[in-house]
Amino acid sequence: MLASALPGAEIIVVSNRQPYVHKRRGGSIILQRPASGLVAAIEPVMRACGGTWIAHGSGNADHDVVDDADRIEVPPAAPTYSLRRVWLSQEEQDGYYYGLANEGLWPLCHIVFVRPTFRDSDWKQYRAVNARFAAAVVQEAKSKDPIILVQDYHLALLPQMLRDRLPDATIITFWHIPWPSPDTFGLFPWRAELLRGLLGSSVIGFHTQSYCNNFVAAAGKFAEGRIDRERASVAVADGQTLVRAYPISIGWPPAGLAGQPPIANCRASVRARLGLRPAMRLGIGIERLDYTKGIFDCLRAVEKFLSQNPEWLGRVVFLQVAASTRKQIAIYRNLEQELLDVVREINGRFGTANYQPIRLVVRHCEPDEVFEFMRAADFCMVSSLHDGMNLVAKEFVAARDDELGVLILSEFTGAAEELSDALIVNPYHERAVADAVNRALLMPEPEQRERMQRMRALVRSRNIYRWAGQVLLDAAELRDRQGIRSADFARN
Ligand code: F6P
Repeated sequence: MLASALPGAEIIVVSNRQPYVHKRRGGSIILQRPASGLVAAIEPVMRACGGTWIAHGSGNADHDVVDDADRIEVPPAAPTYSLRRVWLSQEEQDGYYYGLANEGLWPLCHIVFVRPTFRDSDWKQYRAVNARFAAAVVQEAKSKDPIILVQDYHLALLPQMLRDRLPDATIITFWHIPWPSPDTFGLFPWRAELLRGLLGSSVIGFHTQSYCNNFVAAAGKFAEGRIDRERASVAVADGQTLVRAYPISIGWPPAGLAGQPPIANCRASVRARLGLRPAMRLGIGIERLDYTKGIFDCLRAVEKFLSQNPEWLGRVVFLQVAASTRKQIAIYRNLEQELLDVVREINGRFGTANYQPIRLVVRHCEPDEVFEFMRAADFCMVSSLHDGMNLVAKEFVAARDDELGVLILSEFTGAAEELSDALIVNPYHERAVADAVNRALLMPEPEQRERMQRMRALVRSRNIYRWAGQVLLDAAELRDRQGIRSADFARN
């Protein structure tokens, strides 16, 4: 269907985060898949469609493996698309990525009561780095009308920069995090400029309709956008941008599932690795170590659960896997120590010589290992305080081909709008989450199966290929209209 809707179209993805990172370990180079929802979602699409993915080359061995044009064909084992790396100096990363994107826009867009920091110097770097990505896109484009998929809040100015240089391109921007209310967005010092950057897009996508509504309201209020509610579009100058909800998803079947042993083996091997008895019940949480993820709330809820239900002591363990992230920023650096302290405190309160109720793994895990943990668990907890979508929730469902296991899911994730068969909780309400843990552990298998079957059917059908299909079909429709308009123009 896509091939006929977009015959011969050139596809270019642009994001800050790259799908493959090369790192030096000892004397050799290892390949890592970053812990990133963006990568989990977009990579299967690129494998299927081919094209070029432009991203920051952040690994310390990335330079060593690219060709003269800074490209490498990936996936390395069986290449289907090109990865073009953009190199950023430490100063650029500090201002654009750590500063503006992650100390400014990230807390601005997530309701977690962390004050955003806005520095003129960061904004300057953000603009400069967006311009560097624009130059890379123009350099990579082989046609005058490529389809450019711009990803996330790091590159908000890129769409208009591309519109100026590739006026016939179809530019589709996807914002992977929540879009805040206009009042909150109004705190951003460069709000009109950022909006005008985004409004260079042909289409801008968000995970949910409410983020779309917030964006449209902000564009009307701060960028003098003319809003067409019927078409769900915003117009500035002579350009028009469609605003659409495309709930993102994962590949089905997910790559992490390939080669997984049966569930019973995963249960046995994970328990053996953790030194747990075979009958030990296991809950898991798997996230980047980010303050938006509600990891502390989750652990406190497990603590409450244990204090309210002492009959479970010695019979259940909660495994928290946390990948370090953005450690240049003080608040992230401190999280690891705080987490260790909380785990030590809870284990000190409930643990014994041979029983520690919380297990903590702070390191990067590759998708295979993540899926093995998910297949070994009795329940999975996603306790984000605010999250655009949260693909861990969808991955857990996809991992459970035995149709068992319980998902406990924060109501403040985009995923909660779709996965209503999870146990939906308010992560701020400790007792409610503790009760959900108890309910998950006591849930009879027929009920688990019924819920899991419904969630699996949903993730299977609303998978990332369908997401990409919807995005690209909207692009195809826009290109048709544009073609008709140009033909009319040529005739008159
Ligand atoms: O949630 C937004 C997002 O960009 C995701 O797409 C991704 O999972 C996460 O942040 C990763 O962040 P970073 O690229 O900073 O490691």
